[in-house]
Amino acid sequence: MNTVKTVRELRSAVAHARKAGKRIGFVPTMGNLHSGHATLVTKAAQQAEFVVASIFVNPLQFGAGEDLEKYPRTLAADQEKLLQAGCNLLFAPTVEEMYPDGMAGQTRVSVPQLSEGLCGASRPGHFEGVATVVSKLFNMVQPDIAVFGQKDYQQLAVIRAMVRDLNMPIQIIGEPTVRADDGLALSSRNGYLSDEQRAIAPVLYRSLSQMAAAIKSGDRDFARLRAEQVEQIEAAGLRLDYLEVRQGINLRPATAEDRDLVILVAAYLGATRLIDNLHLTLD
Ligand code: PAF
Repeated sequence: MNTVKTVRELRSAVAHARKAGKRIGFVPTMGNLHSGHATLVTKAAQQAEFVVASIFVNPLQFGAGEDLEKYPRTLAADQEKLLQAGCNLLFAPTVEEMYPDGMAGQTRVSVPQLSEGLCGASRPGHFEGVATVVSKLFNMVQPDIAVFGQKDYQQLAVIRAMVRDLNMPIQIIGEPTVRADDGLALSSRNGYLSDEQRAIAPVLYRSLSQMAAAIKSGDRDFARLRAEQVEQIEAAGLRLDYLEVRQGINLRPATAEDRDLVILVAAYLGATRLIDNLHLTLD
């Protein structure tokens, strides 16, 4: 696996693979990789003969006071994991390579409505930063397929909408969330948790699972189900950001008649913001 740092080297390596008739798969990441990322690369390798991953901690998607500076940079360990998972090329650009003229005048891509509630409400500008960097990366790599984790459900919905609305000829694949044995969704941010916080964190998945089980068994009183779980999450010592039942396809508030649902949660454990979701389809 080669690692390149410039767009010029990236384009040249991808052109070479394409000339050899290979389909290009792409997995964008911010590094600090865990086995959830490895499943994205494995999926890309099943769908394409040449897999490109990127590692770029994108300043444009971090708000003031968020964890941009302390976000873990672990390039050597990440390279090893990518190699094991079947990645062919790693693009690891600097901020200057991605934003040579700075970020203030950078053209932005925004996906209204979908970006507005949930994480978009507490992280203003976040999804614009994500859509902008992902569209830049898509233009640099020009992949046939790109793989994202379903753990970032709203992000995946924003990217699907961007690709559809801007007619990007890229197939977007969403991969199921990888969880620890106790249910906690794998995330680079779990590394911020103390042992004590790590033991508490699975309450989020427990709450999602209990809500999902109740809905599946016919309970449609979303407000009451939500209130019960808010109590459980707060009693465990987390500060809730949101817990919502939404329509799976467009993230609009769900009604009792909807069959395609997603329950989404975000909560702070100390200074660490954790998110998770559970998608359910009712018969
Ligand atoms: O999910 C992430 O790690 C990031 O938001 C992404 C998609 C790599 C864009 O920076």
